[in-house]
Amino acid sequence: MNHMSVTIGTPLQSSAFKVLLLGSGELGKEVVISLQRLGVEVHAADRYDHAPAMQVAHYQYTLNMANPEELKQLIAKVKPHLIVPEIEAIATEVLVEIEERQPATIIPSAKAVNLTMNREGIRRLAAEELGLPTSAYRFADSLESFRAACDDIGYPNFVKPVMSSSGKGQSRVKSFAEVDAAWEYAQTGGRVNQGKVIVESQIDFDFEITLLTVRAKNAETGEIETQYCDPIGHRQDSGDYVESWQPQPMTAVALEEAKRISHKVTTALGGCGIFGVELFVKGDKVWFSEVSPRPHDTGLVTLASQYQSEFELHARAILGLPVNTTRHSVAASAVIYAGVDDTNLSFSGLNLALANPNTDLRLFGKPEGFKRRRMGVATARAETTDQARELAQHAADQVIVNQN
Ligand SMILES: Nc1ncnc2c1ncn2[C@@H]1O[C@H](COP(=O)(O)OP(=O)(O)O)[C@@H](O)[C@H]1O
Ligand SMILES: [Mg+2]
Repeated sequence: MNHMSVTIGTPLQSSAFKVLLLGSGELGKEVVISLQRLGVEVHAADRYDHAPAMQVAHYQYTLNMANPEELKQLIAKVKPHLIVPEIEAIATEVLVEIEERQPATIIPSAKAVNLTMNREGIRRLAAEELGLPTSAYRFADSLESFRAACDDIGYPNFVKPVMSSSGKGQSRVKSFAEVDAAWEYAQTGGRVNQGKVIVESQIDFDFEITLLTVRAKNAETGEIETQYCDPIGHRQDSGDYVESWQPQPMTAVALEEAKRISHKVTTALGGCGIFGVELFVKGDKVWFSEVSPRPHDTGLVTLASQYQSEFELHARAILGLPVNTTRHSVAASAVIYAGVDDTNLSFSGLNLALANPNTDLRLFGKPEGFKRRRMGVATARAETTDQARELAQHAADQVIVNQN
């Protein structure tokens, strides 16, 4: 029997199938392009004008998405079929309410968006409810409780504001002497001035991976099934990814365990879409670290390695369509930074970056650069991951950022 499946209308006409993207960064931009290819009408929102995904959407909105009133008004105006959060700094209580009243579907689910925006929510779910292996951890909301938590966990440990992402306010604390400074630093890096942090024991891993996990409907039965991309290895610098590659070799036992953990956590979060499950691996042992209920930055490598990139997988899955997670190549990605704090930047050396036929480039079109802001990414295909990494890095290095 054929199940109820999506009908896509005509953009800009009354039959349009409308998606509202909350957050319009470079990952959202690729999701928008994938949705556009399927004839979806896309509305893109962010806190600043001319954000990357806005530049390829039908409609753009600039607002403070963390403000419940502003967000409610936008949703009432657009009347989207799907709401697709691309960032964590959103008034998620509004999404919970929208999901209950059902005027729109939240991707992947209000529960997933709500729990993963806060490190405490997702960590307690993973470790305490689902019993998944994680680092030892404590939460603290004052300098005094923080000192105690650090001593409890031991050194070195990792400190992160519970409401933060991309390494903001994070530090690795090597001894008691560094504790007070880490507390001060964490207070500056959180999204909201709430002050709560997580202290995690350091996991002594061999490597870390992102296991892109897709929950998508079976074409015949309409049942949601879980599929996995090949593991993506990556290197982080101050909490931000600088290069990634696929596949990351690992033992069969570790891969099975990675899938078991990812299946458990994504099933608990629910809905359809792609999830970036971050895992630490040592030999056959695997620890859950965190999960994004959306495409993952390290997954940019799939633009070069898979028939359907993580963005196409997400677009299809959220529309209730079947997916194919097969990889066709060994590939790597390397980040291109602005290197300066300025607007109106231009990029040269592109001919050299693309001289090798197995390389490719994305420039995100961000209106403003900062020293450590990601402005683009180079990808490369090769015989081995080492060669792909070298080639991707070489391509990224050819790109020169100029001030105007
Ligand atoms: N408990 C830990 N043990 C070892 N390394 C860690 C730990 N926590 C974080 N890291 C390192 O810091 C990076 C960023 O931490 P993460 O929790 O993923 O923060 P973010 O949300 O900013 O990505 C990880 O990818 C890993 O390299
Ligand atoms: Mg992370």
